Amino acid sequence: MADALRSPDQPPAPILRSDYRAPDWQVSEIALDFDLDPARTVVRAKLHVTRNGDHDRPLRLDGDGLQPLSVGIDGVAGSNDRWRMDGDALVVDLDGKAHVVETEVAIAPERNTQLMGLYASGGNLCTQCEAEGFRRITFFPDRPDVLARYSVRMTADKARFPVLLANGDPIAHGDLEDGCHWAEWHDPFPKPSYLFALVAGDLVANRATFVTASGREVQLAIWVREKDLAKTDHALDALKTSMAWDERVYGREYDLDVFNIVAVDDFNFGAMENKGLNIFNSRYILADPDTATDHDYDAIAAVVAHEYFHNWSGNRVTCRDWFQLSLKEGFTVFRDQGFSADQGSAAVKRIEDVRSLRAAQFPEDAGPLAHPIRPDSYLEISNFYTATIYNKGAEVVRMLHTILGPQRFRAGTDLYFDRFDGTAATCEDFVASMEEANGVDLAQFRRWYSQAGTPRVTATLEHEPGGGTATLHLAQAVPPTPGQPHKLPMVLPLKLRLFGGNTGRPLGDEQLVLLSDAEATLRFEAVTERPVLSINRGFSAPVIVDTNRTPADLAFLSGHDDDPFARYEAMQQLMLDTLVASVASGRGDHGAVVDAVRETLRNPELDRAFVAEAVLLPSDNFIGDQLPIVDPDAIFRAREALRRDIGRALERDWRQAYEDTRNGAFEYSPEAKGKRRLKTVALGYLAASGAPDIGELAFAQFEQADNMTDRQGALMTLVNGPWDQRVAALDIFYNRYRDNPLVLDKWFSTQALSTRDDTPERVEELAGHRDFTLANPNRARALVGAFGVNQRAFHAADGRGYRFFAQQLIALDRLNPQTAAKMMPPLGRWRRFDPARQQAMRAALEQILASPGLSKDMLEQVSKSLAG
Ligand code: TRP
Ligand code: ZN
Repeated sequence: MADALRSPDQPPAPILRSDYRAPDWQVSEIALDFDLDPARTVVRAKLHVTRNGDHDRPLRLDGDGLQPLSVGIDGVAGSNDRWRMDGDALVVDLDGKAHVVETEVAIAPERNTQLMGLYASGGNLCTQCEAEGFRRITFFPDRPDVLARYSVRMTADKARFPVLLANGDPIAHGDLEDGCHWAEWHDPFPKPSYLFALVAGDLVANRATFVTASGREVQLAIWVREKDLAKTDHALDALKTSMAWDERVYGREYDLDVFNIVAVDDFNFGAMENKGLNIFNSRYILADPDTATDHDYDAIAAVVAHEYFHNWSGNRVTCRDWFQLSLKEGFTVFRDQGFSADQGSAAVKRIEDVRSLRAAQFPEDAGPLAHPIRPDSYLEISNFYTATIYNKGAEVVRMLHTILGPQRFRAGTDLYFDRFDGTAATCEDFVASMEEANGVDLAQFRRWYSQAGTPRVTATLEHEPGGGTATLHLAQAVPPTPGQPHKLPMVLPLKLRLFGGNTGRPLGDEQLVLLSDAEATLRFEAVTERPVLSINRGFSAPVIVDTNRTPADLAFLSGHDDDPFARYEAMQQLMLDTLVASVASGRGDHGAVVDAVRETLRNPELDRAFVAEAVLLPSDNFIGDQLPIVDPDAIFRAREALRRDIGRALERDWRQAYEDTRNGAFEYSPEAKGKRRLKTVALGYLAASGAPDIGELAFAQFEQADNMTDRQGALMTLVNGPWDQRVAALDIFYNRYRDNPLVLDKWFSTQALSTRDDTPERVEELAGHRDFTLANPNRARALVGAFGVNQRAFHAADGRGYRFFAQQLIALDRLNPQTAAKMMPPLGRWRRFDPARQQAMRAALEQILASPGLSKDMLEQVSKSLAG
């Protein structure tokens, strides 16, 4: 990256949303010609450009690390007086309305460690262009509002690269005399450069056909290396299911004759929605029972659906500029969440989604990197592929769905897709479509796009004993965030319902309250018994709710609320209140939680997956988020003490649950998944109880498992405890799976997440393991990334965790700035800790900042974390 060489006296300038200007030149067509070779690939590009509007500005083509070998203008090569380099950009003086500009460059995919642009993975060649990787391949106006028709010709060694793929439809192919072959692909849909893709490799396909609602036959293929072919059925099924789902739920059909997916082992993100040629991190494609957990299976289906859904929300309608990223990502996450909810238990899916929102997005919104879902500025756009843009963005779309209802929401998306098809749109266009299709006013709702920070709602329910009226006082406040000291009230859709505290009967129907002022008061009539408040049901608004509910109220709701999410939430709140109190006092009163867990566990009407979620304690990190100063050791002690008491008091129930959930041969169904989940949760509580046979029980599960969920579940239990079987299990696991990188990642991450006292040392040791490498993002995330979220180990009082982490990030930044910068946030949370930890964390951040050649990606994350 050229920016790596930037001198410290020229800080890079931020890009501002308010500076948006339409492109000076459009590109109607581009013909690309690749002479593919890992060491030296020659790229020729022929651009048909047209002046956009009345101006005399030159054509400016973005580049990143490219040197032109030749430039031609309107068929004349060597017109060297008409172009110049301005930094990394190629600037061409043109006097007419339309011209043809040709360039030639050479790039070295095998030396591309950033994994942006054209790079090598496992001996194959592939591309990643979002957000600004296309400029590492060829000179081009690399911005999403320049939509061009692409034709691509590839030439490569036939033995090494027998398969040549690009976007759109295959047009022609043939052999050459020197052992090379060529292929041409043409994409009929104009697209922005970030959706360009090609793949060259030794690959085989799992194929199927899909017939769309209007009768178009689509050839589907998932391309992998031969040894992985048997692991692609689940992804292929998920693809077919998603295609049918998008037709049924959104009325959206696929639009090309082929749809290809390629899996690669080295990938910065989850997957990429390139038009007609999705490229995936292999962890979101490959699955069989022996190597993938139920969680992996679910994630594969969700990511396959996500990328497929982008064909409409992202590709047919794309983003005008990168500030609009949530337009495609928030909406598409909302769409994939709906898809997954329809494949199994919607309640469990919602619980999982809220859990990850709280784990990843709430801390972001409360910290130095907080930004609105439509940011106002950035240094490096790669840093904005965040939980806020994706997950909070999805919550904002969900609120529109909740406020409007499913039919009106659908009318809004129909209008949006119709009106903006083939164009580059904005978040504003999306909201305006919802308004116009439904004759509603969303003026105040738009604040969700501009204000950062998680709103806090206070809900106080009052009822005079014997009186017939209850009063609910609601108040909201949005906390200050960097650059936004003062906030205005948001529109908060709050689903709520009252229950009778004596009879357990609902007092009236569920209501949807739109809280749009700072405060509001609601009155409920005919309240004949003490009411208990169920609020933010289904997590209808992404907010934090403080209520005046007693532990008894929460316990009651955890057993009686008719909304499964609210039931889960009441239990979580009860657990959280208990844990926060015991962190403060050093002793806990665990009776209410134990009783509530017992009641849930013994309720035969609840599905096992729900029970498993409901009885899990909030994480160390989430407990820390509730406290003014995080004390990782006190949190860990309080949580372990509660786990032990739940384990001991309910030992017979856990043993019963464990026996009841042992199942026969592996099956991938919601019921079987639920049982496996509860089985491992029960094993964990039995381990916490201190029962003497747990080492044996877990080891037996580990050895006898016919699936990775049970095997990794048992390994996790063993790796957190004192048992001798721990070492044996780790060894067996390693030797059994040493040739499978995705499973080896689990071996690393399970140890990095261990709650044992020696985890910091063990992780340092693992960084020197011969299978550890920072060059593979999955491996780096499995060890270093996982360690960063292990609150107690990462924040070990001697500061060694911080030093180790900083060292690894500095080394990773030299290879792959994007992946390094994405792993940094745990270190940026220094303000939340005691003075000694604050100092050690700041020192680590400053060490990163001072390291020579720091990337723009890391510079942005670290300097905001020190300042904001
Ligand atoms: N658009 C991709 C998705 O969410 C995200 C993505 C894939 C990405 N690869 C990337 C983002 C590399 C940044 C860098 O589906
Ligand atoms: Zn996406």
